[in-house]
Amino acid sequence: MKRIKIKELFIANPVGTKVCIKGWVRTKRISKQVVFIMLNDGSTIHNLQIVTEPEKFAEDIMQHIATGVSLSVCGTVIASQGGNQAIELQADTIEILGTATDYPLQPKKHSLEFLREIAHLRFRTNTFSAVFRIRHAISYAIHQFFHEQGFVYLHTPIITAVDAEGAGEMFSVTTLNMEQLPKTPQGQVDFKRDFFGQKTSLTVSGQLEAEAAALGLAEVYTFGPTFRAENSNTTRHLAEFWMVEPEMAFYDLADNIALAERFLKYVIGFALEHCKDDLEFLQKRELDARVGKQTDKSFLPLLDRLDNILTYPFACISYTEAIDILKASQPNKEKKFAYPIDEWGCDLQSEHERYLVEKHFTKPVIITNYPRAIKAFYMHQQEDGKTVAAMDILFPGIGEIIGGSQREERLDKLTEAIQSMGMNSNILQWYLDTRLFGTVPHSGFGLGLERLVQFVTGMDNIRDVIPFPRTPGNAAF
Ligand code: 4AD
Ligand code: MG
Repeated sequence: MKRIKIKELFIANPVGTKVCIKGWVRTKRISKQVVFIMLNDGSTIHNLQIVTEPEKFAEDIMQHIATGVSLSVCGTVIASQGGNQAIELQADTIEILGTATDYPLQPKKHSLEFLREIAHLRFRTNTFSAVFRIRHAISYAIHQFFHEQGFVYLHTPIITAVDAEGAGEMFSVTTLNMEQLPKTPQGQVDFKRDFFGQKTSLTVSGQLEAEAAALGLAEVYTFGPTFRAENSNTTRHLAEFWMVEPEMAFYDLADNIALAERFLKYVIGFALEHCKDDLEFLQKRELDARVGKQTDKSFLPLLDRLDNILTYPFACISYTEAIDILKASQPNKEKKFAYPIDEWGCDLQSEHERYLVEKHFTKPVIITNYPRAIKAFYMHQQEDGKTVAAMDILFPGIGEIIGGSQREERLDKLTEAIQSMGMNSNILQWYLDTRLFGTVPHSGFGLGLERLVQFVTGMDNIRDVIPFPRTPGNAAF
């Protein structure tokens, strides 16, 4: 008999037909006359209830059925007597596929910290299966959005000799073991010649290669793993994350911003439309966790937070306006911020970003035209000589979700920026060539996939929205 997935079964409601289901036991309740097994197969947040009489089966089968055990069950779909579902399965045959002795995920509430320690098993929980189905839907929607707009999906290298952000936060890649690495005259390991004689690292961004492609294919995007050797132990940083980087020829900063806002609304709208059950489950989970806790009056349930993104236009201000708002929010220099804003030119701390997004505007905020000195070398320099055509998009509860800019398309300005930041222009010769031959104004941005998944699922910690998080001290599974 053909196997059917639980999600399809709930859609088809085929009362009276015979079907087979394969999945993992969530709970079992047994009495003399009847046994109820809740089975989940990963296709939906909902479990299928299996009902049968215990004496129909050999005693050792009934004894071995427990939480975590994998089963193949065939039987007849019947209308449910009570319960939450319209249908259940009256079992004729039950086969145990795999037993689960001392299974750590017994049916009770487990902390997310505990589940992180068994990341290989957490796919079997409601919370994580919902999160990863939503992560999939978001990834799918990202490809669909760009495909519909005529963008070309570009695969950029993972191993590279170029520090695309110029921030020196790269993981070295080596083809040799420590003993084989060449030594400096002082006897120290010479990491400068580690990749078949060349110094290489894992990529921090596919942007520079995407720029080269955009100056030929016009509109491209990358979507791949990205690595940052920053030792940040926060709920927003990973050493390995997935970044989406569109790059568009003939776009200025305003075109770039418009695309980014449309893109975020499209992807969040897609998740709302296609992941309703999972989002409702996560919303309830979040609301349950708040019961009895001090309530923040501005708190909105998850689905309302997502709806609001679609409903309201994002705020858009310049860095200079942001500084003015922040300064005005601390009258008489009363210390409202741990890092008071005194000077034009300083980078915004996350507490400043949160103030702007969560207190001042209460919606996403796009900040443009940052000081040149705090942004990367490739950004388009503005006429004022002080700012660059940058844009960051900040989201409630998340902070920076997108970083982007119009690019410096003028060879002389770009060369000067590379040199003034002390970067190696030899290695960037190919990049400079793109400005030498047929250069055009162009723009792009980078979205951190995990931060978007955090926003859509309401998960607090970035480690809980990527299957196997890579953070300092965490690379085992
Ligand atoms: O602002 P970032 O560093 O910008 C770039 O890499 C540009 N090359 C993008 C471009 O213009 N093509 O990173 C972009 C986004 C951030 O806004 C954030 O969402 C995410 O990538 N991000 C991280 N996410 C998780 N962990 C980290 N360590 C991250 N660093 C950046
Ligand atoms: Mg950034």
